[in-house]
Amino acid sequence: MAANKKLLILAGDGIGPEVMREVRRVIDWMSRRRMVSFDIAEELVGGASIDARGTPINDDTLQRARQADAILFGSVGGPKWERLGFQLRPELAILRLRKELDLFANLRPATVLNPLVNASTLKPEVVRGLDLMIVRESTGGIYFGEPRGIETLPSGEKRGFDTESYTTTEIERVARVAFELARKRKGHVTSVEKANVMQSGLFWRQTVTALHAQDFADLQLEHMYADNCAMQLVRNPRQFDVIVTSNIFGDLLSDLASMLTGSLGMLPSATLGSPDASGKRLALYEPIHGSAPDIAGKGIANPLAQLFSFAMLLRHSFGMEEDAALIEQAATNVLTSGLRTADIMAPGTAKVGTSVMGESILRELDKLAA
Ligand code: IPM
Ligand code: MG
Repeated sequence: MAANKKLLILAGDGIGPEVMREVRRVIDWMSRRRMVSFDIAEELVGGASIDARGTPINDDTLQRARQADAILFGSVGGPKWERLGFQLRPELAILRLRKELDLFANLRPATVLNPLVNASTLKPEVVRGLDLMIVRESTGGIYFGEPRGIETLPSGEKRGFDTESYTTTEIERVARVAFELARKRKGHVTSVEKANVMQSGLFWRQTVTALHAQDFADLQLEHMYADNCAMQLVRNPRQFDVIVTSNIFGDLLSDLASMLTGSLGMLPSATLGSPDASGKRLALYEPIHGSAPDIAGKGIANPLAQLFSFAMLLRHSFGMEEDAALIEQAATNVLTSGLRTADIMAPGTAKVGTSVMGESILRELDKLAA
């Protein structure tokens, strides 16, 4: 059995705690099987933390996150906290975690599992076998750029503004992650910006081009404008292998890409920092979906994105490829058997709630591990 690994669980708000419960059952299953043993700590984030402590995430939680071997994050936010204003948004929990832990590479896969090929709003022949990875920069760009604000001009009119900005280092380190991933995949990187309009986009293109020539000339690099990329993702998504892009374009394009797969409820993500001197790399794993307040508390949320996030955690933070694959296989088998949560229902399948989906996966794990 592997040594204890420190895992910090931040379930958050809305459906976060509901889907996290099913992951906990899988973790318990794994420890019963003596496959792994985690030191698990749980903390409040988002609205839950605002209610209990008056802040979306407190310094102690950030400190624990820094010390964890991996962080499993749920989702934050909901109408209850909307009136609190910009400085007290539940979303600040995830934004501060990314920024203060310097988790700059947000990996967002979009894969279409065979049993779900009909769940997409796109034709099956367009999405069948889709397997693309978006690498979204997640600590820079317009999300954090200064200056930003809302000011009153001398005329009395008001002006709202934000700043898009990227340094050489910021671009190079995220592009490097994308190239390294591509090397293990199909060897193709599409770098996405608006070099036809934005100086920061032009600089992004120049920097990625230079890095490619210097260290990754064996891989294929293509440049694409962000608007064209959005169009190409819907027209022919299988042309892509790895997409690397800025924070804001990655935010938009990853929501778009997720719907190619049929449901936001299916997609995990990983956000990685740089390895430190000892080789340890801080990393946070979260589903792409949000807290879905409209269905929270009803027991109908799809736990698979959270579960697949945990599988990514095993794979990327602990090198537990086989265990990750086992979990993914169990989930795929359950889908193949015809069970579906409401978000991925199709004719001829049976609708189940969050916990039945979780139990079915445990049963499947029992079978696979027998
Ligand atoms: C995401 C979300 C976040 C983002 C929000 C919740 C701040 O949309 O992870 O894509 O914009 O990055
Ligand atoms: Mg988003």
